[in-house]
Amino acid sequence: MKMQITYFGHSCFQVVAGGKKILFDPFISPNPLAAHIDIQSIEADYIFISHAHDDHTADALTIAKRTNAVLVGNWEVHRWFNHHGVANTHPMNIGGSWQFDFGRVKMIEAVHSSSFSDGTYGGNPSGYYMETADCNFYYAGDTALYNGMKLLGRYAKIDTAFLPIGDNFTMGPDDALIAAKYIKCDKIIGMHFDTFGFIKIDHEAAKKKFSNEDRKLILMKPGEMVEV
Ligand code: NI
Ligand code: MN
Repeated sequence: MKMQITYFGHSCFQVVAGGKKILFDPFISPNPLAAHIDIQSIEADYIFISHAHDDHTADALTIAKRTNAVLVGNWEVHRWFNHHGVANTHPMNIGGSWQFDFGRVKMIEAVHSSSFSDGTYGGNPSGYYMETADCNFYYAGDTALYNGMKLLGRYAKIDTAFLPIGDNFTMGPDDALIAAKYIKCDKIIGMHFDTFGFIKIDHEAAKKKFSNEDRKLILMKPGEMVEV
C-alpha cells in the first residue's frame, strides 16, 4: 500500500494515510521557499507538532482554527494551543501510544530543545512513529542522532522515515545515514534543510552518501507531492 506525501517546505508535510490527512509542523507563511504555497488551501484532519519552536508551529494556530483538525502534541504544546483558542487537542508524552482512527501513534523522544516564540516552555521535543493500514512511518522532528533510535529499529517496522538532514541545529546527512541504519529504514525523506543559511546542504552529495549504502534519500521541493 502507498501513502501520499505533500511537502510544504522546511519540516512541514501532509501525509495521507489510513484515510486521513495528517499535517506535520506547519511553518509555511514565514518561509520564503514556500511563498507559492497557499496555506488557506491546506487540508488537515490532524496536525502533529514535534516541538514548540516557531519553525514548526508558526501556522499551526491559523490552520487548526480553520480546519478544526485535532492538534496533537505533548502536554505543554496542548496547553499552549488550548490557551490560544484551539479546543480540539490531544495531549501525549514521550513513550506513550494511542490508537487514532487512522492508525496507532507512538510519541518518540527527540534530542533537541523546545520553547514557544513568546518564551513559554514547550516541554520535551519529540517525534512520532505511526502504524497505519497504508504504511508505517517515523517522523523524527528536530533531533540529534542518538543511541535510543536503535530501540525504535528493534520494535518498529518503518517503511519510510522523515529525518532532519540540514545539520547545525539537527542531524546532518552523515548522522541521518547512521540514524537510517539504527531504525532499519532504507527510504528516507529529508527535512529541515535549505530554509535558512545555517542549514543549506549539497543535495547531490547528500543523496550520494545514501545511495552508496543502498539507501534512498528523497529531497522534495516545496509544493511537490510523492507517493511512497
Ligand atoms: Ni527546533
Ligand atoms: Mn527547527
